[in-house]
Order: sequence, then C-alpha cells, then structure tokens
Amino acid sequence: MCKIIAIANQKGGVGKTTTAINLGIGLVNKGNRVLLVDLDPQGNATQGLGFDADALEITISTILRKMIGKDYAIMKKYGILSHEEGIDLMPANIELSVIETELISTFFGREKMLKTYLDMIRDEYDYIIIDCMPSLNLITINALVAADEVIIPLHAQYYSVKGLEQLLQTISSVKANGLNGSLVISGILYTCVNDRTTSFRDIQQILKLGYGGDVKIYESYIPRSVKAEEAPSYGRSIYAYDASGRVSSAYNMFTEEFLLTEKGW
Ligand SMILES: Nc1ncnc2c1ncn2[C@@H]1O[C@H](COP(=O)(O)OP(=O)(O)OP(=O)(O)O)[C@@H](O)[C@H]1O
Ligand SMILES: [Mg+2]
Repeated sequence: MCKIIAIANQKGGVGKTTTAINLGIGLVNKGNRVLLVDLDPQGNATQGLGFDADALEITISTILRKMIGKDYAIMKKYGILSHEEGIDLMPANIELSVIETELISTFFGREKMLKTYLDMIRDEYDYIIIDCMPSLNLITINALVAADEVIIPLHAQYYSVKGLEQLLQTISSVKANGLNGSLVISGILYTCVNDRTTSFRDIQQILKLGYGGDVKIYESYIPRSVKAEEAPSYGRSIYAYDASGRVSSAYNMFTEEFLLTEKGW
C-alpha cells in the first residue's frame, strides 16, 4: 500500500527539498518504488535531481490544470521523469505560481485537486513524497489534504520554533474541517545541525518541553555540511555525491528510523 508523505514547513530554507530528495532516494535504496512530487514553483527538487525545470513542458501545473478541468484521462506515467538513482519525479517550475490563482477561483473541491491526481497513480508506488513550498497557501493545503503523513524539517534555532505553531494549527484545521481527518504528523526532523553548539541542545529542550507530548521528534538529525549544499548542483543525492560523509549516513539513519516508526505518533 502506498503512503503519501508531505515534507512541509512554511519557513524557507529549512531543508525540505534536501530531505525530500534524500529520504526519497533513501527509500529507493531500501527497495521501494518512490515518486517525488515537486510542489514548489521554485522547482528546486526538479533542479536538484538534474532537470532543467524551465524547459519542461509537462509539470505538476499541467496535471493540476487537468484536474481543475475534470480531465481525468491521463496515463499513469504521464509527465513523470526517471532519475538515474531510481526515483521518479513529477516536476515543477514557475508556472505553478499561476495555478494557485486558478485554484482560488475554482468553486468545488479546490483543496482536493492534488489528492484526486495522486489517488489515480498511487498504486504504482510504495511512497509518494511531496516537496512543499515555503508557504501555507492553497497549494500547500492540497499537499496536506493528499498526504497520509507530514514530516516537518526544522532548523535548530530559536526562531524556527516560533513558526511551528502556525504550521501545527494549519494541520489541525485540515483535520478538523473534514479535509483529511486521518492526517498524521510523522515527526520533526532537525536539519543543518551544528551539534557542537549548545543552542542545538537548548532548542531540543524547548521543543521537547513544548511539543514533546504531541509531536514526535526524530532521534536522527542531519548535521550541517557543505557537501549537502553541493550535491544538488550535480543533480545527485547525498548518497551518490558523498557516500561516506556524515550527511549521507545521517539521511540513511533517518530513512531507517522513518521506516521503523512508520505508523506515526
Ligand atoms: N545538512 C545541510 N548542510 C548544509 N547545507 C544544507 C543542508 N541541508 C540543506 N542545506 C542547504 O540549505 C539550503 C536550503 O535547503 P533546502 O533547499 O533543502 O530547504 P527548503 O526548506 O527546501 O527551502 P525552500 O523553503 O526555499 O523550499 C540549500 O542551499 C541546501 O543545499
Ligand atoms: Mg525547497
């Protein structure tokens, strides 16, 4: 059975895309069929897997426009790209920013367009990972409505914790308003961690005290490393770019922890 995971945090630059790519390929490396859906007009997941986002004719925007127009006659692999490391990708580019306006003016089911699409193709995959944009807009709501679980990457800094409240509230509203009653928060993943500083340990403490009872905080965390920054410009995962590095083993450990605690909190 396929599980759909949204990687979300409205704060920018917290490691959503890096996590989406490396959890995705981590799951592929453990024998799963994985689709990564780029749901960000910045197209970072698309570029980070080595594709020229602006040159693509079929993207998630094409798909969403079809769903809005109730045109469901699409082939399962329509527009899906394959990456050499074994992950499939539904790409995105700047055109996605126009789709939000089109969604807003759609009268019925505007929060469910992505879900309608993913429900049509989910039996082809073990996991579908959605890389969300840094905003809590209608497109991100579409991801939360389509998803079974949410992973929240978080920088271990004081100000990151403040934005978390708003995200948790949005997730609660999606559940409470009957849009996706079974949505589960898989957990919070610390990224870009400098584990030599005391502030990381302080933030861990703040989060455990504030949210520890409600939201799982993964034991694994991703250290800061320049290799993680470089990998996307080569269109590769951290496993292919720096196999023996710390970030590679951290994402591998996180993938294993994710699989172990898959049932959510
Ligand atoms: N562990 C890490 N160590 C060092 N740099 C990292 C690490 N993880 C991510 N980065 C870098 O930090 C920047 C932001 O990461 P990323 O693009 O994954 O965040 P994001 O949350 O997807 O951003 P956005 O909100 O813009 O979509 C990128 O340049 C990325 O290469
Ligand atoms: Mg991103």
